[in-house]
Formats: sequence, C-alpha cells, structure tokens
Amino acid sequence: MSDFAKDSVMLQNIWQQPQVVADCLAMDLPLPDWLQDPTSTQRLVLLACGSSRHAALVAQHWFESLTKLPTRVLDAAEWTDRPPLLEPGTTIVALSQSGKTKDLLEALAQIQTSHPGEFKVLAIANVEASPLVQMADAGIVTPAGVEGAVAATKSFTAQLAVLARLAVDLAQSRGIVDLTRAAALRSDLAQLPKAIETTLTELKTQAVGEGWGLDWMMRESVVLLGRALMQPIALEGALKLKETCYVHAEGFGAGDFCHGPMAILKPGFPVIALMTSSTLSDQKIRSDLDRFRSFGSYIIGIGPRDHGLLPGLDEVLEVEPIADWLMPFLMVLPLQLLAYDWARSLDLDVDQPRYLTKFIG
Ligand code: G6P
Repeated sequence: MSDFAKDSVMLQNIWQQPQVVADCLAMDLPLPDWLQDPTSTQRLVLLACGSSRHAALVAQHWFESLTKLPTRVLDAAEWTDRPPLLEPGTTIVALSQSGKTKDLLEALAQIQTSHPGEFKVLAIANVEASPLVQMADAGIVTPAGVEGAVAATKSFTAQLAVLARLAVDLAQSRGIVDLTRAAALRSDLAQLPKAIETTLTELKTQAVGEGWGLDWMMRESVVLLGRALMQPIALEGALKLKETCYVHAEGFGAGDFCHGPMAILKPGFPVIALMTSSTLSDQKIRSDLDRFRSFGSYIIGIGPRDHGLLPGLDEVLEVEPIADWLMPFLMVLPLQLLAYDWARSLDLDVDQPRYLTKFIG
C-alpha cells in the first residue's frame, strides 16, 4: 500500500471525505413542498450515469425502506434509446456530480418536452451553475468542492450523504418515521465523519504483505461481490478499478454471480467480497465464498471490524463498524484506495486516466 503521501489529486480527494461528509451533514437541506406532498410525489425515479448511478442504487434502498416510496433507478445513458414509461405521481431525482453529463441532460430534456410540467425534477449536483441545476424544479448542490481527479470519490460520498439525509427528512416529513426514529437515524449519520477518518487512517496499517496482495493485483481480472446495499458498492469498486487501473473488474450482486458468471472462476482468480453484518445476506455470501474457495478462488474479504464473518479468507481488510444502513460510506473507502494503489503500482496517471474525461458532454 502507498505511504499515503498526499501526492495525487485523487488521494487528496479521498482524504477530504471526512470533511466533505461533515459539510453535507451541516448544510441546509430544504425539502420542496411537492416532494413532501403524498399526492404530488407517490414514487421516485433516480436518474444518473456512472458513479452517480451507483450512489442512486444505494439510495434506492434508503428511500424504499425509510420513506416507503417505490423507487426505481434508471440509467440515463439508455433513456433516449428506450424511454421508460413514467407513472403519474413520479418525481425524478437527477444525480450528476458535474451537472453536465449529456446523456442525463438529454434524458431530462426529452421528459420535459414529451410531458411538459408533468414530472417534477430534483437535481443533485456538485456544481451550482450547471445545466442540470438550471433545468430542474429544485436543486441541491453538494459541498464537495472541486474534484480534480477524473474518478469520482468525494463527490460520490457527498451524493450518498445528501441522499441519506433526504431519505430521513422525507420519511419524517411524510410521517413514515417518528421523531425518535428520525433522531436515531440522524445520530447514526453524525458518526460518519469520524468513522470515515478512522477507517482511512487504519487502512494505512492493514497492508497485506508488501501491498494489497500484490500477487493477485498482477492478474488481469477481478470480481467484486456484494448483496443488498453492498451490490452497488461492488459496482462502484469495479468502476474505480477499470477507470484507474484498466483492469477487467466486474461488480456483481453475489446472487446473480452464481447464475452463470461464476463459471469464470479458476484457481487463483481474485474475488473481493463485501460483507457488512451478520444478516442473512451476509451469511449467504459467506456460504457462496466457501463454494468459490473450493474452485480455488483467492478471496479478499472486506467488512467491519469484529464482524465475525471474515475469518478463513485469503486476505481481510477491515473498516470501522457503523449502523448497517450507512456501511456503503465505509466499504467504498478500501476500494477507492485499492484503485489508487493498484494504479500507482502500475505507474499509471491516477488523476487523468487514458480516454476518460470528468464527464461526457
Ligand atoms: C463519466 C465519468 C464517470 C462519471 C460519469 C457520470 O463517465 O468517467 O466517472 O461517474 O461520467 O458523471 P456525472 O458528472 O454525471 O456524475
């Protein structure tokens, strides 16, 4: 693992996350009336591309479990090819750190042209003067500051923080959770900045061998597996590895992986497994892993300290324990650092990966 010298913009962005999340928790977050009104907003569509879509996939769990609003996540890059049907009472939450992604803007323009005034749009962006915020009925600007590296890190956790607050505030304002429960959820959120800081600091001491298991990093492919809230984090970790290291990294829901893709496993094939608690989902993934080990796979487990499901794996990385619903914030950190370290070990430009730009305009 690197010595954590703050020598690249991506590494600086990663280390800014405790402060960025603290700023997201402290900022004003006014809820538009139409979002609180049960007639105007009966369901949500979260629309985004890339890392923003992964943040939306995490938030889908929060919105459904806390606000009870049926929530779909749609890929803005697919929209104009096949515009999905939108039901009356849908509010669109459009997410983009840049606020300039063409696929997203085109999707919104198409919705606004074909259904004038019918669907309210809430934009969540990291740039105030962005076209996305201007097109929306209301906008939330995340206080992540300029993210100089192409790969999203702090803008991703900023989106998560705002979405988590939004889910709690909306659940309370719509009477789905009472004051006591809302206060408990906000108290969970308040633990985040410290937990992120501690996790980043402790990951420095958890290097395996001479690096993050340099042997498996020499391989050309890696899969990342998670269930439930960890499935989008598996996708996000894989995207980080593809963007910065140019390796074939694929994220899967661990259940889906068993329906065919696991045939790619062979001795030494690295599998990164994300496990966060002792819930049924994690017990299931643990039994999946036992099966994959019998195929000779090399398993790197990531989970909270004292979690009880990680023993017996080939490598283990631990993060701070926190309330289960907030584990995505912590579990993405080792994956961001892995992408950084792996790219550095290959002597690649982590801040400006080949072919990529900060957004596709
Ligand atoms: C590009 C970048 C991705 C980013 C995506 C969405 O494809 O390479 O890293 O996640 O755009 O960007 P946005 O600004 O809309 O969040």
